[in-house]
Amino acid sequence: MRKKITIIGAGNVGATAAHWAVVRGLGDVVLLDVVEGVPQGKALDLWQSGPVENFAWSVKGSNDYADSAGSDIVIITAGLARKPGMSRDDLLTKNVAIVKTCTEEAVKYSPDCVLIVVTNPIDAMVYTSFKVSGFPRNRVIGMAGVLDSARYRTFLADAIGVAPMDVNAMVMGIHGDNMLPMVRLANVAGVPIIDLLSEEQINEVVKRTQMGGIEIVNHLKTGSAFYSPGLSAVEMAEAIVKDTKRVLPCAAYLEGEFGISGCFLGVPVVLGDKGVERILEFKLTDEEKAALNESVAAVQNQMAATGL
Ligand code: LAC
Repeated sequence: MRKKITIIGAGNVGATAAHWAVVRGLGDVVLLDVVEGVPQGKALDLWQSGPVENFAWSVKGSNDYADSAGSDIVIITAGLARKPGMSRDDLLTKNVAIVKTCTEEAVKYSPDCVLIVVTNPIDAMVYTSFKVSGFPRNRVIGMAGVLDSARYRTFLADAIGVAPMDVNAMVMGIHGDNMLPMVRLANVAGVPIIDLLSEEQINEVVKRTQMGGIEIVNHLKTGSAFYSPGLSAVEMAEAIVKDTKRVLPCAAYLEGEFGISGCFLGVPVVLGDKGVERILEFKLTDEEKAALNESVAAVQNQMAATGL
C-alpha cells in the first residue's frame, strides 16, 4: 500500500523535507501551510520533477487539513525560524501556539499517524505535540539527534580526513547548547576516535557541533539551516514507513530509561512501523550521566515554559 506523508509548514525545512521524501521514495506527499499559494506552488513544482527524477508519487500543496487525512506520518516544521541573536528558546512561546494548532488539526484527520516534530525548540515542541495529541509515546518523536549527529560526523570526518559515512557517532540530549556529542563511543569503521585525534581536536569538533545550528544562522542572517534538518526528518520517516528498524538518535519520551522519567531527550532508538519500537539503553559513565543531566534540566525548563 502507498504511504502518505504530510509535511506541515512549506518553508525551507518543510519544502526541503518534501523534496527528500519523494527522492527517497517514501510515498505520496502533502505539503500544508496556512499561507495561501506557497504550498501549492512548491508542491506543483516538485511534482513536475517526477518524470525527470523517476518518481510516481503525488505531491499536493494545500491550506486544508482535510487533504492530510489518513497520513502515515505527519512531519511538523511550521513555526518561526531563528534569526541572528535569537536562541532556540526565544522562539518557544510563539511556536507552542503554532505546534498546538498543527497537532490538533493533524491528529483529527490522521489519528493513527506517527508525528515527527522539527519545529524549534524541538524538545519543547515535541512535548507540546505529545501532550496535545494524547498519542502514546512511540508515536511522537522529535528530530534533532540525526541532524546533530550528522554535523558531528561531518566535522569528525573532516578532522580525521576520512569519508563521513564511515564515522559512527551520535549526539544525545537536548537540541541546544547542552547537547552531548558522545566521544567515548565515536569511531571510524570501528576504530575509536580517541586514538585518531588529540583531546584538543576532539574538543574543537564537539564545540563546533554544539554550535552547528548557530554557525549557519550567522551566515544566512535571515533564517536557519534546512537541507540537513529536512533530510534528517525524512531519514526518520523512511525508517518508519519502510519498517527498517534503523537505530537513529531521536528525541523520545523517557519513562525510566537512563534513569530519566517524564522528559523528551535525544537517545538512540529503534524506528519501525510503530514509530519508536525500542530505546537502546546502555551504561553511561559518571561524566556522561552528569552531562546528560544538564540536558534534562534544560529540557525540563523548556517543558515548564510551554505551560502544558
Ligand atoms: C539547527 C536548527 C534546526 O540546528 O535548530 O540548524
